[in-house]
Amino acid sequence: MNFTTDIFNQFDKKWALLTAGDEKSFNTMTISWGGLGTLWSRPVATAYVRTSRYTHDFMDANEYFTISFYPEECRQILNVLGAKSGREMDKMKESGLTAKKVGETMTFEEAEVTLVCRKLFMQQLEVENIPDDIIKTFYTGQEPHDMYIGEVVEII
Ligand SMILES: Cc1cc2nc3c(=O)[nH]c(=O)nc-3n(C[C@H](O)[C@H](O)[C@H](O)COP(=O)(O)O)c2cc1C
Repeated sequence: MNFTTDIFNQFDKKWALLTAGDEKSFNTMTISWGGLGTLWSRPVATAYVRTSRYTHDFMDANEYFTISFYPEECRQILNVLGAKSGREMDKMKESGLTAKKVGETMTFEEAEVTLVCRKLFMQQLEVENIPDDIIKTFYTGQEPHDMYIGEVVEII
């Protein structure tokens, strides 16, 4: 897997799971927006989560989260985890994924790569700072995204 040079496709085309919480209580959802970079001289990963998502509650309540990437055989699982909320289904039962503890948070055995992140920053994307064409497409009658930036403390 050519992870280092293919990061745009990695999120946009291959997708990922964003997972927050601990062994006792966690949730996961499919994401295709995100990024990797450097902030405050640290390696960071960024995710964008609409405030309505169940995972949003876990992102707010926990200091650590993971972003994990999967082989193509898992596409259908990522479809399911991106179509229905953990409020309405047992995501572990329906996905068949095997939860795995990493540090203080969770990922899944099936992941090819997991970024373990310590939450450093979150902020709502303010609509007045977004161009009109983007607002029209993504924020007409739809709730905003919150941006979460985490320090990548481990890559598994
Ligand atoms: C391919 C794909 C990409 C997605 N990317 C995002 C994303 O980047 N941010 C987001 O808030 N929701 C995204 N979603 C939607 C959530 O995954 C979906 O609403 C999910 O059911 C939320 O689950 P939850 O309520 O259990 O957190 C995406 C869905 C799919 C299928």
